[in-house]
Amino acid sequence: MDDASLLFLLFMASMLYWTTNQARLTVSPSRSQAFEGDFVSLSCEEDDSSAGWTLRRNTSIDTRAECEEWGVADGSSCNISYIDPLDSGVYWCESREGPISNLVNLTVTGGSVILQSPVLPVMEGDDVTLLCKTKTTPSNLTAIFFKDGVFTGKDSTGHMTIQHVSRSDEGLYKCDISGHGESPSSWITVTDKHTTTPPPTSTPPPASSAGSSPLVSVLLTAGTVCVVLVVMLLVVLVERHVESKLKGARL
Ligand SMILES: *[C@@H]1O[C@H](CO)[C@@H](O)[C@H](O)[C@H]1NC(C)=O
Ligand SMILES: *[C@@H]1O[C@H](CO)[C@@H](O)[C@H](O)[C@H]1NC(C)=O
Ligand SMILES: *[C@@H]1O[C@H](CO)[C@@H](O)[C@H](O)[C@H]1NC(C)=O
Ligand SMILES: *[C@@H]1O[C@H](CO)[C@@H](O)[C@H](O)[C@H]1NC(C)=O
Repeated sequence: MDDASLLFLLFMASMLYWTTNQARLTVSPSRSQAFEGDFVSLSCEEDDSSAGWTLRRNTSIDTRAECEEWGVADGSSCNISYIDPLDSGVYWCESREGPISNLVNLTVTGGSVILQSPVLPVMEGDDVTLLCKTKTTPSNLTAIFFKDGVFTGKDSTGHMTIQHVSRSDEGLYKCDISGHGESPSSWITVTDKHTTTPPPTSTPPPASSAGSSPLVSVLLTAGTVCVVLVVMLLVVLVERHVESKLKGARL
């Protein structure tokens, strides 16, 4: 193997490192809706803390606003101790170099009913349980559920389970508890079974990024193969180096 192919492999490996060095935004409690006054903690989980990730948001009142402007920052996490309906919006982590994390939609209601739905995309084939709850009473009230404005079911304890979710389950969900009111709507995103991390992008993914997922997993697999090759190559080179040193010592 000549120097050029060695350089090429090293280049591929660093590209892989760069593309997989992603941040993930997680939310605690892990749900997409909150009541006014709730405590919410957001954090950027990063592979490389030196990348300097910043937590930002777009809401109706601010654009690309950093945590310092709306929460209490502490390293890579950001807490909102009393969340307000004006905090509703899209949140993400962003590095100086440009790559951004997954996007998270948070909806805060001043009303008395929320739909507890997954804040992160759910994987194809998984079961998803939604809970319709009120702020004050125990969450065992009869609720009705809607997907894209169409009635989908009624449950006497406020639960709805979607078994083996598929892409066709993607949509805008909301619920209603008689006598208490309606929840805000939340989008449920279903991801391909083979992608374990959100696709690396430098721009927000379009609402229907269905086609990009297989490509991403192919790229990641190809990248992994490259890394394995480089490691094997390095091992061989080191061995040769040691061998020639030993030979040199014996002579
Ligand atoms: C946030 O708002 C800015 C300005 O309107 C827009 O360019 C950007 O795409 C938005 N980001 C997200 C993640 O929605
Ligand atoms: C944010 O909340 C988390 C979880 O409750 C806590 O561990 C962390 O110390 C808080 N950070 C700040 C800056 O308040
Ligand atoms: C409400 O439902 C939960 C399960 O979701 C159950 O554990 C609990 O006992 C119920 N509470 C009442 C008051 O029925
Ligand atoms: C956020 O909500 C908008 C509109 O409700 C939807 O189009 C978008 O896909 C959602 N994004 C995520 C990451 O759930």
